[in-house]
Amino acid sequence: MTVAEPTFDLVVAANRLPVERVLDAGGRGTWQRSPGGLVTALESVMTGRNAAWVGWAGVPGPASEPFHQDGLFLRPVSLSSAEIAEYYEGFSNETLWPIYHDVIVPASFHRNWWNTYRTVNHRFAQAIAQVAAPGGTVWVHDYQLQLVPAMLRAIRPDVRIGWFDHIPFPPVELFAQLPWRRALAEGLLGADFLGFQRTADAENFLRVCRQLLGMSTKGDTVTFTPPGDDPARRTVRASAIPISVDYKELTALARTPAVLARAAEIRASLGDPEILLLGVDRLDYTKGIRHRLKAYEELLRDKAVAPPQVTLMQVALPSRERVEAYRLLREEVERTVGRINGEYSVLGSAAIHYLHHFYQRAEMVAMFVAADILLVTPLRDGMNLIAKEYVTCRNDLGGALVLSEFTGAWHELHQAFICNPHDIEGVKQTIMRAITTPEDERRRQMKAMRKSVADHDVQQWAADCLEALASAPQKPHRRTRASEEKRRSVERANKANRTASDNASEWMAQ
Ligand code: F6P
Repeated sequence: MTVAEPTFDLVVAANRLPVERVLDAGGRGTWQRSPGGLVTALESVMTGRNAAWVGWAGVPGPASEPFHQDGLFLRPVSLSSAEIAEYYEGFSNETLWPIYHDVIVPASFHRNWWNTYRTVNHRFAQAIAQVAAPGGTVWVHDYQLQLVPAMLRAIRPDVRIGWFDHIPFPPVELFAQLPWRRALAEGLLGADFLGFQRTADAENFLRVCRQLLGMSTKGDTVTFTPPGDDPARRTVRASAIPISVDYKELTALARTPAVLARAAEIRASLGDPEILLLGVDRLDYTKGIRHRLKAYEELLRDKAVAPPQVTLMQVALPSRERVEAYRLLREEVERTVGRINGEYSVLGSAAIHYLHHFYQRAEMVAMFVAADILLVTPLRDGMNLIAKEYVTCRNDLGGALVLSEFTGAWHELHQAFICNPHDIEGVKQTIMRAITTPEDERRRQMKAMRKSVADHDVQQWAADCLEALASAPQKPHRRTRASEEKRRSVERANKANRTASDNASEWMAQ
């Protein structure tokens, strides 16, 4: 006799579970927290709710039995080794990821990867259908699961379906390259509400619906007749609700004596530099690490900075190591770090401290508290939660943030020292501005950025997304005016900021 699985009013589905299966020294399987920003963001929202999470456990092979952890019901989805290669490394990270990140590296198109992507998305849809309560809410996440909304609707038309895009959504000209563009867009249109990081991402999606699918859009909605036998017209809403961090948890952690002591220890172990520059990134070509190193190398060459007074600690979190572009990037970054250190380090003090490891949360927070300047210079990034985490951890209003204008975070943290990472002179100048700006001015900037994150933390983000989903395709009533006002004020500030940064670059070029 098969026992029916329990069902839940809220089901989250993401490529990864918040925990992953690892083997301990004795070869026994244990569960360990998964790496990654999505898990960090959602975990705090899900914990304590009567909810289920459907996702992959991070290892090949049959799925483990569902289980409860911290009040959450976790429902693992299996992936074979071939599926990991074709659905995760292949279609998700060698086809979609480059297309969605401005084709910084070329995208690969393979029909067998696409077929596997479809198979795995269908498996996710079935697993969700089993655990979603009648009339329940399902919240699907990210580019790995873009077909799930329509597949799930076909099995369970009774549930409300939301999808959130954690990465950029590309301009129609790039999306159009995908041989499966129609199926991908129609997959998303199975949802009631589609959430994006920036208004520009939502607009890109609506443009895809109009220009590639011939659908009609009005404001932030698209109305269409779904393919198949069902003649009912549907309206889907697509709009921006930027993700954030757990402000309360992080500020509290950053204040603990253990973290403060560790921060002092980190500085001491680096020889107590006057200025500690920090970079913390997944080792991904989108993060602009090579551009950052180039700018730093030139500052060393120009003698604008030098160890032991100034040093850079670059944390490169291991990521997608079996994907060729990531392997090549690692080689290049490590070669560059070696060259820079050979040229510019002095006895007892390195120009760059390079660390290719995962770190526990408390250790990362200690690094943020220790650093004088955080360098966040992606070429393209959906949000960049590291930037928001950094300002959140600076209870002391110390520190400074150098931030690329190609991050989602730029739209909210416009008081940061803004740079265009492609403009190496501009990056150098921005780093020097961050170093030389008077402390009271930096403190004012930090205060404003912290307020912006505190006002829109991850709990607020989740509440806004779920509210938007509940009322879609209508806008949720309560927040409309306030969020519109906020959006307009952010846009005004962005415009002013862009003009200021353009003026500064032009001035430098003179
Ligand atoms: O930002 C997109 C994303 O998929 C996140 O959800 C995740 O934390 C990160 O990239 C790392 O991805 P992966 O699961 O491939 O390690």
